[in-house]
Amino acid sequence: ALTPELSKKTHLKEVAGIPLQVATVDNWRQIQSFEAKPDDLLICTYPKSGTTWIQEIVDMIEQNGDMEKCRRTIIQHRHPFIEWARPPQPSGVDKANAMPAPRILRTHLPTHLLPPSFWENNCKFLYVARNAKDCMVSYYHFQRMNQVLPDPGTWEEYFETFINGKVGWGSWFEHVKGWWEMRDRYQILFLFYEDIKRDPKHEIQKVIKFMGKNLDEMVLDKIVQETSFEKMKENPMTNRSTVPKSILDQSISPFMRKGTVGDWKNYFTVAQNEKFDEIYRRKMEGTSINFCMEL
Ligand code: A3P
Repeated sequence: ALTPELSKKTHLKEVAGIPLQVATVDNWRQIQSFEAKPDDLLICTYPKSGTTWIQEIVDMIEQNGDMEKCRRTIIQHRHPFIEWARPPQPSGVDKANAMPAPRILRTHLPTHLLPPSFWENNCKFLYVARNAKDCMVSYYHFQRMNQVLPDPGTWEEYFETFINGKVGWGSWFEHVKGWWEMRDRYQILFLFYEDIKRDPKHEIQKVIKFMGKNLDEMVLDKIVQETSFEKMKENPMTNRSTVPKSILDQSISPFMRKGTVGDWKNYFTVAQNEKFDEIYRRKMEGTSINFCMEL
């Protein structure tokens, strides 16, 4: 018989070499034929790069700083997650189709797996990138606490798994490179987690402008305050506390874990760091993207 340890975790299935959740792959045709609209805004991230954070920022901007409106529902339900599927519940595509325009949607898909209608309709894309080392640490803890993702194994094992892109939504390197290379050809606001952390006001202003909104200084200051890590960790609408323990076991690791830049230093050994830097140099050769590794 399967031990509970083995039976509780599902496996991922690949599409074009990218591991995705099985229900997503089973729904792939519906996802690929999704019809975007020209006024859609798509929030794009590699997992664990600050998706929830930018979602709350975008929603607060959309609601002109009205926290009550942001509390209408939990963050996972505010912006349909295009590739999400868990039958018999409505899929991300079903939810997006039911949403009135102008829509704000979200995805973790790499550029080459995005439903083509997003490109064809020249939609706005808001991409948030996070440095690979912190992203790896965050993803490791997320896979430990997430009861429906594969067990990450030891840190040493996960280090290899992550580098080889054998995690949900594939290789960090390919994801970030793909979106970075698209930024001049489409309406893409490309932001960095580290910049938002260092100067939230400045980065939030960019988002306001990109969304075509005009908010006064007081509202901007309020958004900065309400979207701080401390506030979002306490906020039941953003901290995933309503998700059952059988899916997210926050006693293993909280969803709002640390929210810092440079936590990787507490995990990478000197040898791992050297190996990673070498792999990074090779995989990212020729790209102009630059990450901040500590504040
Ligand atoms: P850590 O595990 O490093 O703490 P995602 O939403 O894409 O799954 O990303 C989750 C990561 O973003 C977690 O990182 C989480 O703590 C961090 N995060 C969430 N809200 C944040 C905020 N307001 N400020 C800084 N980091 C935040």
